[in-house]
Amino acid sequence: MRILGIETSCDETSAAVVEDGTRVRSNIIASTSCAFAQSGGVIPEVAAREQVRCILPVIAQALEGALVTSDELDAIAVTKGPGLLVSLLVGTMTARTLSRVWGLPLVGVHHHLGHLSSTWLETGNQEPGLGNPTEFPILALTASGGHTELWLRTAHTTGTLLGQTRDDAAGEAFDKGAALLGLPYPGGPAIAAAAASGNPRAHRFPLPLRRADTFDFSFSGLKTALKYLLRDAQSSVITHQLPDIAASYQHAICAHLTDRLARGVSAHPEVREVHVVGGVAANAYLRAMLCRCLPGRRLQFPATIAYCTDNAAMIAAAAACLIAERGNLAFAPFETSASLPLHYL
Ligand code: KG4
Ligand code: ZN
Repeated sequence: MRILGIETSCDETSAAVVEDGTRVRSNIIASTSCAFAQSGGVIPEVAAREQVRCILPVIAQALEGALVTSDELDAIAVTKGPGLLVSLLVGTMTARTLSRVWGLPLVGVHHHLGHLSSTWLETGNQEPGLGNPTEFPILALTASGGHTELWLRTAHTTGTLLGQTRDDAAGEAFDKGAALLGLPYPGGPAIAAAAASGNPRAHRFPLPLRRADTFDFSFSGLKTALKYLLRDAQSSVITHQLPDIAASYQHAICAHLTDRLARGVSAHPEVREVHVVGGVAANAYLRAMLCRCLPGRRLQFPATIAYCTDNAAMIAAAAACLIAERGNLAFAPFETSASLPLHYL
């Protein structure tokens, strides 16, 4: 099964060719995030124009890189939502057109299922539909710029949502924190770089929802605490202490994510494997903290950083899982939608 994946939900234009849901033959990503370095976030209109400009060359490069032609594909997979509507429409209209012209079946993929499927790429973990050495249930954390969710996955395409963020997403906390610190967008890599020489214990941030009996997340309090810390400090001190402040703020976000996963693991002792996906899974400090704090569980991250942030390979992987577990239902007609509830996963 060879699938062409297309992902255009935000400011990345990506196309990939993936075999059997796991072998990545090509994964092309045109990211325009540097266009938003100074704006503190993505400007939807600008992102959509870039999508229009990039989509066809990116698909052509993906086919070329995989050394395949359209008649050697079995299906096309595209992100149907959620995300920025016009960006999504560029991807889905292109995918619908190509599916007609090339006579290929089309799979609409929920963006979050794409992230959840990113751990199957190139990890030697399993091949959807060809047997599965991974032991379900899996505890899965998706931590991105737009979503933060804790899942108990019972199969590749099914599971129970244990908790989600009540306000900002984890990546958004990095992005908004970076804007407060005068660092560029995207904030995650910028804060991680600034934190490299800092002391994560220099400033104490609260641990969100510490006493609440829930698997939910909350990041807006951390952002407010950072805002007050910066308000009360002198600007010369801030410049001098930037690495310490960035390191402490990064520590606080990672401690909250780790705390939720530790709760999930103790509430579900049957879970042997923990997967962490999404842009924030690229964070090295988070990875190290999780390795320390979740002993006895197999921790699985996407095989490369490119599979953490938005990419089309994960969309093709998710489509392979949908076809393996839902058969022809995977090819059902779908709508493109900016806000797609999680039960449409
Ligand atoms: O998954 P993704 O590419 O897009 C969404 O679906 O939102 O995630 C982007 C988010 C951004 O908020 C970015 O700041 C964050 O992931 N991110 C990171 C790192 N790399 C990207 N956060 C922390 N550390 C990183 N190294
Ligand atoms: Zn994403």
